[in-house]
Amino acid sequence: MSPTSSKKFKNPRAKYNFQGRSCSISGVGSYVPERILTNADLEKLVDTTDEWITSRTGIKERRQAAKDEFTSDMGARAALSAMQKAGVTAEQIDLIILATITPDMPFPSTACLIQRKIGAHRAAGFDLEAACSGFIYGLEIGQQFIMSRTYDTVLVIGAEKLSSIVDWKDRNTCVLFGDGAGAAVLQNRPNSHGLLTAVMGADGRKADLLFMAGGGSRCPATAESVAARQHYLRMEGKETFKNAVQAMQTAAKEALRRCELDISRIKCIIPHQANQRIVDAVGERLGAKPEQLFVNLHKYGNTSAASVAIALDEAVTSGRVQRGDLILMVVFGAGLTWGAAVIEW
Ligand SMILES: CC(C)(COP(=O)(O)OP(=O)(O)OC[C@H]1O[C@@H](n2cnc3c(N)ncnc32)[C@H](O)[C@@H]1OP(=O)(O)O)[C@@H](O)C(=O)NCCC(=O)NCCS
Repeated sequence: MSPTSSKKFKNPRAKYNFQGRSCSISGVGSYVPERILTNADLEKLVDTTDEWITSRTGIKERRQAAKDEFTSDMGARAALSAMQKAGVTAEQIDLIILATITPDMPFPSTACLIQRKIGAHRAAGFDLEAACSGFIYGLEIGQQFIMSRTYDTVLVIGAEKLSSIVDWKDRNTCVLFGDGAGAAVLQNRPNSHGLLTAVMGADGRKADLLFMAGGGSRCPATAESVAARQHYLRMEGKETFKNAVQAMQTAAKEALRRCELDISRIKCIIPHQANQRIVDAVGERLGAKPEQLFVNLHKYGNTSAASVAIALDEAVTSGRVQRGDLILMVVFGAGLTWGAAVIEW
């Protein structure tokens, strides 16, 4: 059987309206903790300056979850907001996909803890680990379940409490990350707008650029592993930067190619919110105008799997994106992993 994609997007890999199915994003939501940690606050913790952080990253402040506030709490709040905007009840949710590298605990999955918190007792649920690329991986996986007729309503969440794995003595990393959550409700809505395509990629040969060694089967928690600070994330900043720019531009171009779209048709580009210099470099290599790029990293820093989910919600809520507009999302993270998605909002 041949696909019957929309008239506007002739390429069969633009997947919406395929055999009577369509993956629509019917609602998005987000949540960030109240506590703000400014660059001035970090100057008191490590040998850094607001000037250094701002000029190298663009980040001015980030959010920090309370001691008793966990990834599941933030994920549940973002999910409830997305469900409310989508007009979907907890009973309607068929599947919960949670993208995170900071689950509440190794098991059970934090998706199950969120299921309990939002009362979506009919839903299946699992955690997805693709680091900062997790939300795009989640959208693609959710879309596959909808297009295959397995499920009609899928909740995709990106949520992180990165403050729990950041080494507050390491100035190379502690200035970069923040806590928060974003969510999207995917639904089968034939003849509606939706997710046109999603690209995913990975390169495990570069796994050593960004990792947390402790807490898994290779290095379980011991007094020695804690003393050696192995339960904190580590990163080779410069190499990560170069790989991010390369992978994001390649993924974005592939997503546009699949939809036969020129960058000028995109109303809003939502890149992973890691560093203003990465955003600018990717935008330039895509031939985008600065006003096409959505940026909120100055407020939140890098929130990993939550990053583009929060940004999508803010782009929609602020009116930057209107129904019918084309959005390009593009991400990069540890793994290495990367991805891009084109959405007709
Ligand atoms: C981390 C990053 C901001 C560093 O910027 P950079 O221009 O590459 O800086 P460098 O690594 O060359 O470091 C320059 C100097 O600043 C110092 N430095 C690092 N962090 C600092 C900080 N917070 N404050 C002040 N100085 C700092 C370094 O120690 C180094 O000093 P040295 O030259 O005496 O050794 C940048 O590499 C980056 O953004 N990388 C990608 C990070 C990322 O996005 N990761 C997540 C991907 S999902």
